[in-house]
Amino acid sequence: MYAQMVDTGVRSVKGQAEMTTEERAFQARIDADIRIEPKDWMPEAYRRTLIRQVSQHAHSEIVGMLPEGNWVTRAPSLKRKAILMAKIQDEAGHGLYLYSAAETLGITRDQMVADLHSGKAKYSSIFNYPTLSWADIGAIGWLVDGAAIMNQIPLCRCSFGPYARAMVRICKEESFHQRQGYDIMLSLSRGTAEQKAMAQDALNRWWWPSLMMFGPPDAESVHSAQSAAWKIKILSNDELRQRFVDQTVPQADYLGITMPDPDLQWNPERNHYEFGAIDWSEFMEVLKGNGPCNRDRLATRVKAWDDGAWVRDAAMAHAAKRASRQQVA
Ligand code: 3HC
Repeated sequence: MYAQMVDTGVRSVKGQAEMTTEERAFQARIDADIRIEPKDWMPEAYRRTLIRQVSQHAHSEIVGMLPEGNWVTRAPSLKRKAILMAKIQDEAGHGLYLYSAAETLGITRDQMVADLHSGKAKYSSIFNYPTLSWADIGAIGWLVDGAAIMNQIPLCRCSFGPYARAMVRICKEESFHQRQGYDIMLSLSRGTAEQKAMAQDALNRWWWPSLMMFGPPDAESVHSAQSAAWKIKILSNDELRQRFVDQTVPQADYLGITMPDPDLQWNPERNHYEFGAIDWSEFMEVLKGNGPCNRDRLATRVKAWDDGAWVRDAAMAHAAKRASRQQVA
């Protein structure tokens, strides 16, 4: 599946015998849970995979503002509008923390943005789906931010210091994001029949793409083995996905809406929910750029970047002027 798509195959992990002295010393620090800081020696591959993951995480935060931004002017009340605006502003801040964390690895903001705009860098597949009703804003907070929290809590313990510390701050804000989404779903599911139907429709459209957020199955995950060895990935894609399903199904039950999965059932032996097959061909199509909103999302980001060029130029000119004044003084 994905491994075939990029024709790299699932990457194996170097054994101690294949490691250089420096790599063995580095791995010993990882194994001893000693945080790696930007100025520490690190294998080039460690630096590269962190730049890949952290920059893509940052892109996800920034692109993730677009689906919700679609509903700021159409929020059903001033209170809901204010909450949504606060959440979207938080996401922008999360993106900036993560771009800054990635910059400590030696990549520039311009390079990261160029990689996003050229399609070389990804952002989370989930943000390529449209927000068709106000209930989608509830489903995004409840499911997408809920899945993000599930994935991000372990990242607070990841081996790279700046990333782990950014995650601690981000996770505190994510819990508000998830709660406000669930509160919207609660209001709708307790509302009129039409409102409850809106909540059900949103769950039907966002449930499976939310499960895809955790990445391909472990057996297909190109990076997992090495990311786990380097304690970037503390829990696997499938482990996090399972935890998310187990946590979310009772929440849907409380809302009185039905999971769109006829195969969903509690397995008392495993103490987990069994769930149906995920359509990985849909996931692959979205990753290839053929999702419902891929082109629109990228075009919007490119236009925003171009339209903001004068602000960046003005800020740089101002900074240069101040620096030259300080030199003279
Ligand atoms: N969307 C897009 N690409 C995905 C993906 C997804 N949901 N899941 C996996 N991929 C990509 C990977 O990036 C990788 O491609 P690449 O080599 O070009 O980068 C490929 O599929 C193989 O997947 P792997 O499982 O081998 O890759 P990883 O080990 O990197 O695992 C991941 C994927 C679990 C997403 C991991 O990168 C990760 O934990 N990232 C940090 C969390 C993150 O980025 N979350 C995105 C959502 S942020 C968000 O939701 C904002 C919130 O405020 C709403």
